[in-house]
Amino acid sequence: MQEQLNQIEKNALEALHGVQDEVSLEQWRIAFLGRNSPLMQIFDRLGGLPKEERPMIGRRANEVKRALETALSEQNTTLQQAELMRALQIESLDVTLPGRPIPRGRIHPVTSILRQIAAIFTEMGFQVYRSREVETDENNFQLLNFPPGHPAREMQDSYYVTSSVERGDNPILLRTHTSPGQIHAMREFAATNPGNPPPIRIILPGMCYRYEQVSARSEIQFTQVEGLAVGESVTFGDLKGTIADFARRLFGPQVRTRFRADHFPFTEPSAEVDFECFLCGGTGCQVCKYTGWLEIMGCGMVHPVVLQNGGYDPERFTGFAFGMGPERLSMLFHRIEDIRYFWKNDLRFLEQF
Ligand code: PHE
Repeated sequence: MQEQLNQIEKNALEALHGVQDEVSLEQWRIAFLGRNSPLMQIFDRLGGLPKEERPMIGRRANEVKRALETALSEQNTTLQQAELMRALQIESLDVTLPGRPIPRGRIHPVTSILRQIAAIFTEMGFQVYRSREVETDENNFQLLNFPPGHPAREMQDSYYVTSSVERGDNPILLRTHTSPGQIHAMREFAATNPGNPPPIRIILPGMCYRYEQVSARSEIQFTQVEGLAVGESVTFGDLKGTIADFARRLFGPQVRTRFRADHFPFTEPSAEVDFECFLCGGTGCQVCKYTGWLEIMGCGMVHPVVLQNGGYDPERFTGFAFGMGPERLSMLFHRIEDIRYFWKNDLRFLEQF
C-alpha cells in the first residue's frame, strides 16, 4: 500500500505538468483528490488495515494528500499568473499613441484688431473706457447735438427698446455709435473734481447697432472705437498728430494720412480721415478702388455744446474725438469682402484667423 501511495503521488505530480488551463486543473483535482480518486479510496480502506500498519500508511496517505493539495494550489497560482500576463499583453494600452487633439478656440478677428487698437492708444497714454450699449435718445443723439428730427439722424436709424409713446422725446434705444460714451465719460470725469475737471484721454470700444439694410458693406451690429481727448489746450494739430501716429503704428512708418472736411453734429470742425492704401502703397489697387486711399474714420474737435453737456466749460476746454470701425480695418487687413462673416459664427470663416 505504501508502494501504491508512492505511485499515486508520482502519477499525480507528473500529470500536473501537463495541466495548462483551469478546466484541466479541475479535472486533475477530481481525478487525484476527488471522492473516488485512488488516494481517497486508500483513506476508505484504512479502517480495514491491520492495527500495526494503520498509523504508517495513514501518515503517508496524509503526506501525499497534502503534497497534492500544495501542488494544486501552486499550479492554480501559476495558471492565474499566466492568464493575467496574457490579458495584459492583449489588452495593453499604448500610452505612446498620440491623443486626439482637442479643438482650440481662437481670438475673433474683431477682438484681435480691437486689442491692437487698444495697445496702440494705451501706449500713447489713452485709457480704455467702457460704456453702455442700451442708451437713451438723449445720450445717443440730443446731447451730441442731434435734436429730434435732425436730418443727421437719418444715417443712424436705431432699434428702439421702448416706444416714443412711453418716453416722449427720450426713448430707449440700442446705441448707433460709441459717441454717447463721450457724454458719460465727460460727466464722470467732471464729477471727480467739480469746478476743475481733469483732462481726459480715453478710447471707448464697443458694439453698436443700426437699423440698416444688411449688405456686404453694412451690418445691423458692428463694433466701433471712439477716441476722446479733452484738455485746456487740445488742438486740431493734436488730433492730426495722434491719428497720423496711430496710422503709422498700425500700418507701418511710411503710411500717410489725409483729412477731408466732413460734417458731424457733435464735432466742429469735422473731418473724414483716409490712410494711404497699405496694400499698394498709394499707387492704386482693387482694395482702394484705384484711389490710393482708404477711408478709415470720422473725427473732429468736440463741439462746444457737447463739451458743455459733458460738464466741461467750452471757454476753457477744447477736445478732439474720433470714431472708427474695427470690422472695416479687419476687412482691409485680411481682404475680407463681406462684413456679414464677422457675426455669422461660421467656423469656416473664424478658423482662418
Ligand atoms: N460717431 C460717428 C459715426 O458713427 C463717428 C465719429 C466719432 C465722428 C467721433 C467724429 C467724432 O459715424
